Amino acid sequence: MKFLLFGKGGQVGWELQRSLAPLGEIVALDFDSTGLCGDFTNLEGLAATVAQVRPDVVVNAAAHTAVDKAESEPELARTLNALAPGVLAQAAAKLGAWMVHYSTDYVFDGSGDRPWKEGDLTAPLNVYGQTKLEGEQLVAQGNPRHLILRTSWVYAARGGNFAKTMLRLAKERETLTVINDQFGAPTGAELLADVTAHALRAAMARPELAGLYHTVAGGETSWHGYARFVVEHAARAGVALKTTADGVQPVPTTAFPTPAKRPQNSRLDTSRLQAAFGLRLPPWQDGVARMLTETL
Ligand SMILES: NC(=O)c1ccc[n+]([C@@H]2O[C@H](COP(=O)([O-])OP(=O)(O)OC[C@H]3O[C@@H](n4cnc5c(N)ncnc54)[C@H](OP(=O)(O)O)[C@@H]3O)[C@@H](O)[C@H]2O)c1
Repeated sequence: MKFLLFGKGGQVGWELQRSLAPLGEIVALDFDSTGLCGDFTNLEGLAATVAQVRPDVVVNAAAHTAVDKAESEPELARTLNALAPGVLAQAAAKLGAWMVHYSTDYVFDGSGDRPWKEGDLTAPLNVYGQTKLEGEQLVAQGNPRHLILRTSWVYAARGGNFAKTMLRLAKERETLTVINDQFGAPTGAELLADVTAHALRAAMARPELAGLYHTVAGGETSWHGYARFVVEHAARAGVALKTTADGVQPVPTTAFPTPAKRPQNSRLDTSRLQAAFGLRLPPWQDGVARMLTETL
């Protein structure tokens, strides 16, 4: 089996290089790779790369993920998040190859408090969400053999993330103010990459499993609950902090105005994925604790 992976240096792309390795050969590219085009602004180059590599599976972990910046560069966001994935899906379909793609809770408007199901009405609040939704649609139209995993609040041990920022601030300040009216599940890039490998293997054996699946860690929290968990974990591990968990103070989203509006309800219902693939999604605390233990 041969994989063609785009976005190899991103949080999920990095972990996919590990999780897919036992399944086959991986040709992994980034936007500045030489020899083969991995640049999502070069649509012809992307199609040529797929035709040249002739993979069994195209895996797209690249995206324009700077949610606020996307508001001021909507055309670039659309090219990276919608047009390029669409081109890859079509190029893969020409070879009879599979296409794996990732999407986001930001396709929803964040209303209510019920976890969103795959078939629920989409209504993105910002450019990132709009372009990711169009990307889902182009991938699904371009190649019936697709797996699209919608996820949320992705973190990885490699690079910066929310938990590491909270940890740094907790060492510097006596109080932190963190948003407590957005709800979701922090999801490790590791978990996403592992689920991808398991689900892909099953779907390739049973193509009727192709489709869209919500894929997040179990349980739910707010950013405030997430930050408290980080501080409690670090304190228990003996890290010298200036703040305690009670020093993490809840504030509403309005306390931190941003160019892009965020959904308040980012809960995703993962029962379809769990039933289709016989997989269990562990509680979000497990992955965050593991990442913190590696980081501390
Ligand atoms: N992060 C989240 O919280 C989150 C939440 C829900 C869904 N998702 C989705 O999950 C997937 C993986 O996200 P992630 O967190 O791993 O993102 P990430 O860490 O931001 O990685 C995105 C990758 O895309 C690359 N990229 C940027 N511009 C490119 C271009 N012109 N051509 C080719 N590659 C380019 C980036 O390269 P550089 O780093 O060199 O710019 C990076 O390697 C994405 O589809 C994302 O929309 C993420």
